[in-house]
Amino acid sequence: MPVKTIIEPFRIKSVEPIRSTTREEREQLLEAAGYNLFAIPAEAIVIDLLTDSGTAAMSTAQWAALVRGDESYAGSPSFTRFRESVEAIFGFRHVIPTHQGRAAERILFSVMCKPGDVVPNNTHFDTTRANCEFVGAEALDLPIPEAAEPGRVLPFKGNMDVERLERLIAEKGAKRVPLVMLTITNNSGGGQPVSLGNMRAVRAVCRKHGIPLYLDACRFAENAYFIKLREAGYAAKSPREIAREMFSLADGCTMSAKKDGMANIGGFLCTNDDSLAQQEKNLLILTEGFPTYGGLAGRDLEAIAVGLNEALEEDYLHYRIVSTGYLGEHIARAGVPIVQPPGGHAIYIDARSFLPHVPPEEFPGQALAVELFLEGGIRSCEIGTLMLGQHAKMDLVRLAIPRRVYTQSHIDYVVEIILEVFGRREKIGGVALTYEAPFLRHFTARFRRLGGAA
Ligand code: F0G
Repeated sequence: MPVKTIIEPFRIKSVEPIRSTTREEREQLLEAAGYNLFAIPAEAIVIDLLTDSGTAAMSTAQWAALVRGDESYAGSPSFTRFRESVEAIFGFRHVIPTHQGRAAERILFSVMCKPGDVVPNNTHFDTTRANCEFVGAEALDLPIPEAAEPGRVLPFKGNMDVERLERLIAEKGAKRVPLVMLTITNNSGGGQPVSLGNMRAVRAVCRKHGIPLYLDACRFAENAYFIKLREAGYAAKSPREIAREMFSLADGCTMSAKKDGMANIGGFLCTNDDSLAQQEKNLLILTEGFPTYGGLAGRDLEAIAVGLNEALEEDYLHYRIVSTGYLGEHIARAGVPIVQPPGGHAIYIDARSFLPHVPPEEFPGQALAVELFLEGGIRSCEIGTLMLGQHAKMDLVRLAIPRRVYTQSHIDYVVEIILEVFGRREKIGGVALTYEAPFLRHFTARFRRLGGAA
């Protein structure tokens, strides 16, 4: 009989204390933060599920590599190791390091897009949308229609609607679509994977019209593992082989190494196009740095070079996908509405169903995130009307799981707190904005609570 208990496939060598807080303290912290969890000091958080970005615990191999970091301004051997590691997995001709994913996005869109252009994506992440719109292009989301039904279980709910893509290109003309993007996994759509079948279909449409295909590859290893588990013909392939096949279908990618790079900072931009690469490197020098470091220290490049390989290890990916599913299944079993099936890096609570009496304009996702902090010091993140404005099709609360950081008992605590809040959901009211910035408002918005609060 195979063993059923999934253990964390690592031992803990260095620990960070978690400070507990009282409900009164948390009430005061919330008030001082204007009910925005981004404004709460991290030491006052019990379990921090705000993001899986840059929050990974590094391995001993990564820490060892860090010490090897060569800080030469140009031609550092750390860059060579970084480039070789990226090339071996991603396979693109040019690898351009950046300080994080959004810097890669800014450079890519600055070089490829102009006002009036349209960039289709399965679902743009908020920084991707903002960077696209910043250069005057339209960021268009074309997920499959089922992606908007939180309870619907599909193996590849991150897929793009290929028919809509065809129609869009027919309507706008291929000249106005400078690139098509696929976000793997689809973060804003529930951490859902994209199948290789869908990638091939999207690529075929792109090829027909001479449009390059780029992957937003932040969680490529998790996407590859879902393909291994769920797509016919891939069970015997390694995550690395699957990743190679995914990238072979694309003309380039943007990457935040803060996710499946297992690093605390970093990113890169890849392309097969020599002329674009030249323009991108010129822009890189202007704002990020010389092309052999791109705004990173040599030691960061070393951590990423090792981390990308660790993210593809099967023991790790098995634990990663199963332990995220564990949280989802335990709350769903008790009736908590979540985006089904569980995503790779996060569980998304469907706040519109959790708080059906709170209308979207009273930000049910934010109201629920505030309650989870108040109840148990858990920090989560709204992905809904607050973050996405009129583009929001759902109001979700994301519980993002940092890589290799929390154990099963931490997750059991999270389950208990969520169920406690679920039990008193009818008494929870919405929130109203008292301040909002002109773009990416969720980071700095402030709120007041509307009636019904517990
Ligand atoms: N694309 C996706 C799909 C992302 O999830 C993120 C970041 C980025 C691009 C930008 O990368 O942060 O390195 O500049 N997502 C983080 C999150 C912030 O919490 O989901 P970055």
